[in-house]
Amino acid sequence: MGNKVINKALKPLRGEVVIPGDKSVSHRSVMLSALGDTPVHITNFLPSADCRSTVGVMKALGAKVDIISDTELMVEGHGLHGLQEPATVLDAGNSGTTLRLMMGMLAPQDFVSVFTGDASLHKRPMGRVIKPLGQMGAQIVGRAENTKLPITIVPTGKKLQGITYVMPVASAQVKSAILLAGLFADGETTVVEPYPSRNHTELMLKAFGVGISKRDNRISLTAPDRLTAPGELVVPGDISSAAFWLVAASIIPDSELLLKNVGINETRTGIIDVLRDMGADMTILNERESGGEPVADIRVKYAKLHGTHFGADIIPRLVDEIPIIAVAAMFAQGDTVITGAGELRVKETDRLEAICQQFTKLGGNIEGKEDGLIIHGGSSLKKAECFSYDDHRMAMCLAILGLAGAGVEIQSPDCVDISYPSFYEELDRLAF
Ligand code: S3P
Repeated sequence: MGNKVINKALKPLRGEVVIPGDKSVSHRSVMLSALGDTPVHITNFLPSADCRSTVGVMKALGAKVDIISDTELMVEGHGLHGLQEPATVLDAGNSGTTLRLMMGMLAPQDFVSVFTGDASLHKRPMGRVIKPLGQMGAQIVGRAENTKLPITIVPTGKKLQGITYVMPVASAQVKSAILLAGLFADGETTVVEPYPSRNHTELMLKAFGVGISKRDNRISLTAPDRLTAPGELVVPGDISSAAFWLVAASIIPDSELLLKNVGINETRTGIIDVLRDMGADMTILNERESGGEPVADIRVKYAKLHGTHFGADIIPRLVDEIPIIAVAAMFAQGDTVITGAGELRVKETDRLEAICQQFTKLGGNIEGKEDGLIIHGGSSLKKAECFSYDDHRMAMCLAILGLAGAGVEIQSPDCVDISYPSFYEELDRLAF
């Protein structure tokens, strides 16, 4: 696709949006199902490029994954020790989750595996996973002093040892890599988090019968004999995808949307807390449980927003939503101050820099800080050509900004396929 032109919305956003499956849960569903003893039927799987990367890697490791439909898979479990040496290099594409979690799963195996990925993934820091896995006894060789792709995992002939690892950054990917390695290690494996990050790995391990304990910010497990697969796994809708509509409806006058099937796991709902603080009008309806995860529908109506302040303690609960919160903040009265968000510099792109560069082109008044942003709300917006940096969340934020502001032309818009392939169709349906 060439550039994508998004004009100002012709009408308020009204109606329903069914939110596609959660990316984090989709990855984990395939990974863990392959380690069980019995088949797992996965529904509402997210059919996106990142999740396809995980399926591709798992298949290369011998997992049998039948694609029944776009959103429905059958994974035959080969048991905890059923993965096989891959005949090819494993390609994680753009997906940090695929790479980091699979490093944890492969570090204990008695075969060689080699990882690659796309240009963005080659820039991202992997030392944060290699270091704790190395302390457990794994041998991992990467470029740039073992911090970057390409990465090779070499068997040592010895079992990994459980460790207690105090994480310097709050990262669900690092936590998950260590816990997955712990499934194969001698003794107890414990991770200590500085702030709570998404707990989908812990919840799913529980659903697979693994005894995993959490006390304060310490999460521990010991290697089980086997994983008892649940038979059915229903992936909840992704609140990180719902976030675009939560903000769009909040800032486009007269809008009212019903977002159906949104995962509201409390380790992911920082966006709801922050938007509420900003004066958003949201009602949580029909709360229920789906596949061990809390799910609800969310009604959101246009509201006059005001600025807010938030920092490190809440960041892991909304780490992927900061760019869209910045969009909301541009429409709010007053300043929004975000601190403790340095992790955004090592996402699919440096998102703090990308927000400052591109949102400013559209008329935003934003100051970039080393670990955050100050967004002065209420500036008048104009149309401009902006770059997505091939970052899916940047592309979707630019689209919402153009829709609610004065239009936008997005360069490299296709990357929405990484997490929300039907995003532009939904946007066209709702706004034009
Ligand atoms: C994810 C964790 C987060 C998030 C990413 C998905 C996961 O990364 O940004 O999109 O599925 O565990 P970090 O844990 O590195 O912050």
